[in-house]
Amino acid sequence: MSTNSIIPFLDLGSTHAELKQELTDVFHKALTTATFIGGPVVEEFEGAFANFCDAKFAVGVGSGTDALRFALMACGVQSGDVVVTVPNTFIATTEAISQAGGLPEFVDIDERTYNMAPQKLGEYLESQCKRDASGRLISRRSGRPVNTVIPVHLYGQTADMDSILDLAERYVLIVIEDACQAHGAEYFSRRHQRWMKAGSMGHAAAFSFYPGKNLGACGEAGAVTTNDAAVAQKIKMLRDHGQAKKYYHDSEGYNGRLDAVQAGILHVKLAHLAKWNAQRRERAKVYKCLFASNRSVVTPIEPSWSRPVYHLYVIRTELRDAMAADLKGKGIGTGIHYPVPLQHQKAYAWLQYQAGDFPVCDEVSNKILSLPMYPQLTSEQQARVVREVLHFAQIQVFQPVASEFAKLAG
Ligand SMILES: Cc1ncc(COP(=O)(O)O)c(C=O)c1O
Repeated sequence: MSTNSIIPFLDLGSTHAELKQELTDVFHKALTTATFIGGPVVEEFEGAFANFCDAKFAVGVGSGTDALRFALMACGVQSGDVVVTVPNTFIATTEAISQAGGLPEFVDIDERTYNMAPQKLGEYLESQCKRDASGRLISRRSGRPVNTVIPVHLYGQTADMDSILDLAERYVLIVIEDACQAHGAEYFSRRHQRWMKAGSMGHAAAFSFYPGKNLGACGEAGAVTTNDAAVAQKIKMLRDHGQAKKYYHDSEGYNGRLDAVQAGILHVKLAHLAKWNAQRRERAKVYKCLFASNRSVVTPIEPSWSRPVYHLYVIRTELRDAMAADLKGKGIGTGIHYPVPLQHQKAYAWLQYQAGDFPVCDEVSNKILSLPMYPQLTSEQQARVVREVLHFAQIQVFQPVASEFAKLAG
């Protein structure tokens, strides 16, 4: 490979080239059977995905946003209920809360894992909530009942679920996992004394199959996993206009179904997911090793209870913006997930959070940089990414010294 070749941030083309025949067969089958909505292809994928997640049920829906919204509604979120989550996530998490009638409130993240800090959730429940006369937990900030929490398994690493589930039990909260970036991520549960999959720990979990995810469709798609048959049944109704039988509507619902072409594609790819996740973990090890001697780059941390699947490989550096621009100039793609935390987005000005309410989130959002990470990334490409990152970091350190020296010398 030429040292100047482009290293894209994401490379879906190679994945699809490897699976070309199998993927094309899915399209042919859909065209021949003319079954595009529902049917056995969707059901077979749902069964296989539930199995992969160690969950009893998986219900295919139109997107990860649908999955979150339907999960919230099926688990009983009512108009005006507070749903607690983190500000360092994609806006779909909070859009789904609002669209289900809920009110998002935030707690800060853990600076090592970038996920919900259980300690901050505990503080919120203890000091920012009170009990009303009938014993309901009420947010002091909004005066609304608090009954649900959404931990987001960001970048492919689960939140510290035991600690969150302990709090949820104590305060009687529903837990919905936002597993949209965490297909196959594992968590060692001290409660159960075993590794558990993302999507099997809360009351329900939402997955996105947006094309760039670890398991990605060739269009929009998502799924909810749950161990609760009633929740699964409710989501089947919600995704299909509130009907279990055609034209008999128990309630209004949505057009939020997973289509058969996407389900077929996802089923083909699911067979490779464990291998791809293992390859991502290998690449994460290589990055960690290559960055080990450098102090200007902080690499991701894997707590002992976590087996992440590195949907994103996120480093932290003071030089973030200039470094991203420099890498772009050298043909290396990067991303920022996410540059503006949700409490600072215009869309949430009405929530009236104040500067400094979530200091950890603010601190990391200025420094995080996502590097290329995918199963097809070669060790040569990784070496070049690291070389360019470190080269840039060194120049930033030495340039001021060198120019002072040049001034003195001449
Ligand atoms: C954390 C998180 N939640 C929710 C979503 C929404 O998924 P979708 O784009 O499939 O609606 C995404 C997708 O990017 C996400 O990353």
